[in-house]
Parts: sequence; C-alpha cells; structure tokens
Amino acid sequence: MKMEIMGTGSELAKGLLTNDDLTQFMETSDEWIRERTGIEKRHVSLGESVADLATEAALKALEDAKADAKDIELIIVASCSAEDALPCLACQVQSNIGADKAVAFDLNAACAGFLFALNTTFTYLKSGIYKNALVIGAEVLSKIIDWTDRGTGILFGDGAGAVYVEAKMQDEDNYRFLQRACGAKGSVLSCVNRDINNPLYKSEVSKKKVVMDGKEVFRFAVGTIPACIEELLSINNIDKEEIDLFLLHQANKRIITSIAKKLGTGMEKFPTNVEKVGNMSSASIPVLLDECKKSGLLKKGQKVVLSGFGAGLTYGASVIDF
Ligand code: COA
Repeated sequence: MKMEIMGTGSELAKGLLTNDDLTQFMETSDEWIRERTGIEKRHVSLGESVADLATEAALKALEDAKADAKDIELIIVASCSAEDALPCLACQVQSNIGADKAVAFDLNAACAGFLFALNTTFTYLKSGIYKNALVIGAEVLSKIIDWTDRGTGILFGDGAGAVYVEAKMQDEDNYRFLQRACGAKGSVLSCVNRDINNPLYKSEVSKKKVVMDGKEVFRFAVGTIPACIEELLSINNIDKEEIDLFLLHQANKRIITSIAKKLGTGMEKFPTNVEKVGNMSSASIPVLLDECKKSGLLKKGQKVVLSGFGAGLTYGASVIDF
C-alpha cells in the first residue's frame, strides 16, 4: 500500500518574538541562544487557539491537494497544548472545515506526536478501514511556558502543520516506522495540567508550566535517535546513502547537528527551520515538511526519513518513499 502525501499546509502564530525581545524580560542574550540552540526567533499566539492554527493548516493542505473536506474519512490532531479538555481538537477542526463524514480524535505523544499520528494513519489505511486522512500537528505552547525560566522560555514557538494523505493500491509499502516510549524518564520534561480537586481530595496547586532538565533531554535525543534511525533502515534493508532527506523534529540545531554527525551524514540532508520558528513540538515536522515541499527541496520519488522525540519520553522514526 502506498500512503501518498497529496497536500501539505502550515500556519504560524501571528506574534513574533526575537531573541532580543526576550532579553527585555529574561536574563539572556541573542548570542547565547543562537550558540546553544540555533534559534533566532519564534512565533507566539496573539490570541489564536490551537484549533484556529490547526484549521488554517488543514485548509491549506486540502487546497494543496485539491481535496474536498466532505470526502475526508479520518482526522487526527497531534497536540500537547490544547486549550480545551473537551471537545478534542480534531472534532473542532472537523466542524470548522465541514468534514462531516470523518471520524476525528486527538493523539498526544508530545514532540513525537505528529510522527505517531502518521504511523497510526498508515496502519488504518493499510488495513483498508479508511482510504484517506488529514493528519495535523498543532501547538500553542506559549501558554504552558514559564516565561521567567530562561532554560525553557527561549526554546518554544506556536504553529501548526498538516498533511492530507490517500491510500493507493501498490504491492509494496512505501512507509515503514519504528516508535518507542520510555515512561520511566517522564520527569525530565513535564507539565502538570490539572489538579485533582473533588469533595474528598484536593491536591496541592501546581505550577502548570513546562519543567525540563535540558541536559538530560539533550542526551536522550542525541543518544537514541541515531540508533533508532539506523535500526529502522537496517530492518528494512535500506542503505543510509539512499536517504535524500532527514526531516527531524526541530528541537534545537545542536541536537540535529549532533545526530547528523553520529549518522555520518552531511547537514545538507538535514534541512532546518528551528532558527526562525523555534521548537513547535508536534507541529515541528509537518511545518518543515510543508516548507521543504513548497521550496522544491522535497520532491516526488525521494526517500525521506522523519524522526520525532520528546516528552514521555517518546521517540521514533519512519521512512517514506515520497
Ligand atoms: N541565557 C543565558 N544563560 C543561560 C540560559 C539562557 N537562556 N539558560 C541557561 N543559562 C546559563 C545557566 O544558568 C548556566 O549558568 P552557570 O554555568 O553560571 O550555572 C549556563 O548557562 C549553562 O546552563 P546549562 O543549563 O548547563 O546549559 P546547556 O548548555 O545545557 O543549554 C539548553 C541549555 C536548554 C539550551 C540545552 O540543555 C538543550 O538544548 N537541551 C535540550 C532541550 C530541548 O531540546 N528540549 C525539547 C526537546 S523536545
């Protein structure tokens, strides 16, 4: 079965925060942030919700594919920053775009969320249950960031990316994936969302902001991702040299550079946009995918590795014949 990416779309939040803007309220510098992360600026919400950004990205992906929302059978939104507990983002997007026939649900695997959503979609398409899907990664992380913490406040941004895919009959699969989780290390990157509060029990009021052990997250990403990609390629008898592009979760330029180095592959095969948009968690990969497709870097016929990693800890990689 071939999971064909028919269209891509993305939407960044309207506000722009440069590193110099951050220095107005945080003890940091443009030089420090660029050197340690590669990030120059990031977009933050001026009131747009996760569902707003997801809807815009979805509409652009459908337009790119020349597809009709009425024909969509499955919508999955990957996110860890929805404003509303209920209804889920995917149902909001379904309503906003008029995809009345679709089943819609969310998936949260943090920065690996879009990858896991695409893996889930592939499995549905391969089973024959659905013939097409809209897969979205969307975040407004700025609301869960502690803007007084210079260890995290410099990293994240808000945006959404979407792909519209269709199943095409073909003997060989064009998509293969590996996905893993390591819950025992969950505390290195966490965010308490809601406190327990009922007539019998009240938990202590928590901070409800992202807390991170940056060094540990760095070690985890650089330690696991090269091996994960190598394992994926080896299981599927694919030579590293056959890969045209590696589209990685845009956490940090230093992480991506270290992964490329460990894989022994030149940075020209690792396009980045983290410089301009920061780390947008589950939106990171689909926004990069959209940019690469629109710029002509990503072309039909190429073999492309996608890889995500983040809170959970969750991680994985997939390879697609684009
Ligand atoms: N500006 C200036 N100085 C800063 C700073 C900032 N924004 N953040 C930390 N520092 C200071 C620290 O206080 C420390 O000072 P000290 O030596 O006087 O104590 C020094 O810089 C080194 O801090 P440290 O936390 O060891 O820096 P680091 O080299 O580990 O870089 C990160 C911090 C967050 C950039 C880095 O750990 C990282 O990129 N981790 C991965 C994070 C990530 O990608 N998370 C998302 C994954 S999905």
